[in-house]
Amino acid sequence: MPDQAKKHKIKYETFTYDFGGERYKKTGEPMPDSAVDELKNFDTIYLGAIGHPDVKPGILKHGILLKLRFGLEQYINLRPVKLYQNVWTPIKDKGPKEIDFVVVRENNEGLYTGKGEFKNKGTKDEVAIQVSYNTRKGVERCLRYAFEYCKKRNKRKQLTLVGKTNVLTYAFDLWERAFHEIGKKDYPGIKRDYAHVDAACMWFVKNPEWFDVIVTDNMFGDIITDLGAMIQGGMGIAAGGNINPEGVSMFEPIGGSAPKYTGKNVINPLAAIGALQMLLENLGEEKAAADIEKAIIKTVAKMPSMSAGKMGMSTTEVGDKVAANV
Ligand code: IPM
Ligand code: MN
Repeated sequence: MPDQAKKHKIKYETFTYDFGGERYKKTGEPMPDSAVDELKNFDTIYLGAIGHPDVKPGILKHGILLKLRFGLEQYINLRPVKLYQNVWTPIKDKGPKEIDFVVVRENNEGLYTGKGEFKNKGTKDEVAIQVSYNTRKGVERCLRYAFEYCKKRNKRKQLTLVGKTNVLTYAFDLWERAFHEIGKKDYPGIKRDYAHVDAACMWFVKNPEWFDVIVTDNMFGDIITDLGAMIQGGMGIAAGGNINPEGVSMFEPIGGSAPKYTGKNVINPLAAIGALQMLLENLGEEKAAADIEKAIIKTVAKMPSMSAGKMGMSTTEVGDKVAANV
């Protein structure tokens, strides 16, 4: 057992699966169907970045990432946006004090369910319909998670619903009604706030300090968390969790695999290490998680950049430094 695990008396066993591009090239499937049920027997899942230069985009994402998110009912996608001291942000005059919020993205519904149809495909009268599917139950469990998270985080106690009520008059009507009903009845201590998604993008850049916890649907959550990742220092440091609070959760760096750097030992491992921090926190190993965060903070203080090839050290060296700092 490595020292780092001994320090917190964490006993663990790992099992590695070869799901991904190489497996797909050999077998024609990135992950067998049986995997979803098999993975239910584990306590947690640590997922590497996904993507392979020889595999058509979409295959791995659908065949692994989305299949697991849906199959394991990981209905929350939790994405902290936190700028650490000494990490460069493109936002002028803003620092760690201003950039520190969390996005709770719904992870099983909305535009991601694949519902829709073509009409008159291939003709000049073609129509393509993509359905945003929102159930009261699905929206409610996400909102409740966000309220609870905001309460537990205990910072500004403000939950912002990010939506588009002025245009998405069905989907966000449901979201908005449920948001206020639940908040009013069960979370009177949490301040409820609303922002249209376009305005939220503006605030991310202009006044990121406005946000404490954000809750939003799957598609908007996908989009705004890439912007969030950029203001916290880039994809090299952005981690996220796909959470089923009643089941098996999965933690990942939120960016892809950057295949042009394969084998060069130059990419930033901090996003993956941050995902491990979230994994431990989710397992209730909060002290161990906090230790990893402290080690990340110490490590970034010695790095000139978060970008691949510009970190002033190799991938391995960054990893070794974090481990040593733990
Ligand atoms: C993400 C990714 C995925 C998503 C893709 C790879 C399907 O962009 O995790 O944000 O859209 O959710
Ligand atoms: Mn995304």
